[in-house]
Amino acid sequence: MSDKKPILLVVEDDEGLQRQLRWAYEDYEVVVAGDRATAIDMMRLHEPAVVTLDLGLPPDPDGTSEGFATLETIRSLKPDTKVIIASGHGARESALTAIASGAYDFYQKPVDIDELGHIVGRAFHLHGIERENARLEAAGGKDNSVLGGMITAAPEMLKVARTIERVAGADVSVMLLGASGTGKELLARGVHDESPRADKPFVAINCAAIPENLLEAELFGYEKGAFTGAVKTTEGKIELAEGGTLFLDEVGDIPLPLQVKLLRFLQERVVERIGGRKQIAVDVRIVCATHQDLDAMIAAQTFRDDLYYRLAEIVVKIPSLAERAGDAALLARHFLRKFAEEVKSPVKGFAPDALAAIDSHDWPGNVRELENRIKRAAIMADGKLVTAADLDFDDEAGESDPLNLKAAREIADRGAIRSALSRAEGNISQSAKLLGISRPTLYDLLKQYEMSA
Ligand SMILES: Nc1ncnc2c1ncn2[C@@H]1O[C@H](COP(=O)(O)OP(=O)(O)OP(=O)(O)O)[C@@H](O)[C@H]1O
Ligand SMILES: [Mg+2]
Repeated sequence: MSDKKPILLVVEDDEGLQRQLRWAYEDYEVVVAGDRATAIDMMRLHEPAVVTLDLGLPPDPDGTSEGFATLETIRSLKPDTKVIIASGHGARESALTAIASGAYDFYQKPVDIDELGHIVGRAFHLHGIERENARLEAAGGKDNSVLGGMITAAPEMLKVARTIERVAGADVSVMLLGASGTGKELLARGVHDESPRADKPFVAINCAAIPENLLEAELFGYEKGAFTGAVKTTEGKIELAEGGTLFLDEVGDIPLPLQVKLLRFLQERVVERIGGRKQIAVDVRIVCATHQDLDAMIAAQTFRDDLYYRLAEIVVKIPSLAERAGDAALLARHFLRKFAEEVKSPVKGFAPDALAAIDSHDWPGNVRELENRIKRAAIMADGKLVTAADLDFDDEAGESDPLNLKAAREIADRGAIRSALSRAEGNISQSAKLLGISRPTLYDLLKQYEMSA
């Protein structure tokens, strides 16, 4: 059992503290090192994801030189290691310097076992997320895209994509069921693009967006003079899709009388334009989608079951984004790259707190919500990294419950720095004065947070 626990390396020369920490945490196997050489040996031996590091190590127990040297070696050996710095009284300054040189966080001595446990737990969690993302990025070859343009690495969604590929070639009707923003239209296009009809038209109509009295004319077309305003003969969407695919989006919103007419078309495969006499044969493949519960609608007699069976030869359920493990971060990267390029933003990636927030958000609006948030963040971010604050979540994972003390501090620091800079119109000395810190300290903070003046 214990060999399955993640390993926490504690670099600490105080033997009493070593013993205390060794027994403090049930969830980790704690290994200890009392000096730099042992610490590096332990790094090589165990490759721990998380390290706590006391800066004052022998032969310089009252200074920080050994601690910094150890940090540097760990960073060069395994840059993804989360190093948490232990800072003694009055050593906050060196802890901050350590963070600027790549440490993950710091805690103040004397050690509070619970507080340190919390920081360590968060570090492991974040390390897990980052490693998973790196794995996904590496695994999918170039960009994890399936069906032409869909990004996913989640087994649930890959299964959907495989189903689509498999049914695309057969001329069966496909019904896509999924909440808003899950990619229904993208998948409908996927069906078309993977089918032998790919070089013929793909015609989409959103049955919920068109007023009831116009929907019939949109679908079936009309002859000149059929009704007031019918100034010229117009083909309907069904006819326009000849040879190709007709995508009936929000099919649950088609009113009952029109359901009858649509059913007749699906049985006879001919349309009659409004006001027309001619029967026009049309060859189309039908794909439809809805977020509504059609079973319930059938029970309530607001949707015809005979129409349902015509439309639903194959039913594909699309998982929500929250059900696709790891996809939110994957898609976030994809959209960030795309939008940063579009709006010429210098943004390069996500800060750890942003990644954690993306990972823990529920995404009720699914991929569409994610796309919108990333687009806004790419515009709003004031540094090279998108932070949790830029993503503007109003749930707890965002601003009101930051990742840890460091994230909370960072959010507060960024806010204060931004307002000082704007009051001082970007003047560094003036801003530093407003903030009550020295000019070099402000420069350090700007660099650390990748902000520009
Ligand atoms: N897996 C994915 N990879 C990349 N982009 C995606 C993915 N899924 C959806 N999108 C993008 O997200 C947006 C929403 O997708 P789409 O319009 O297909 O969803 P929908 O289910 O039809 O949504 P709605 O119910 O809001 O109409 C589109 O811009 C689409 O290109
Ligand atoms: Mg849609």
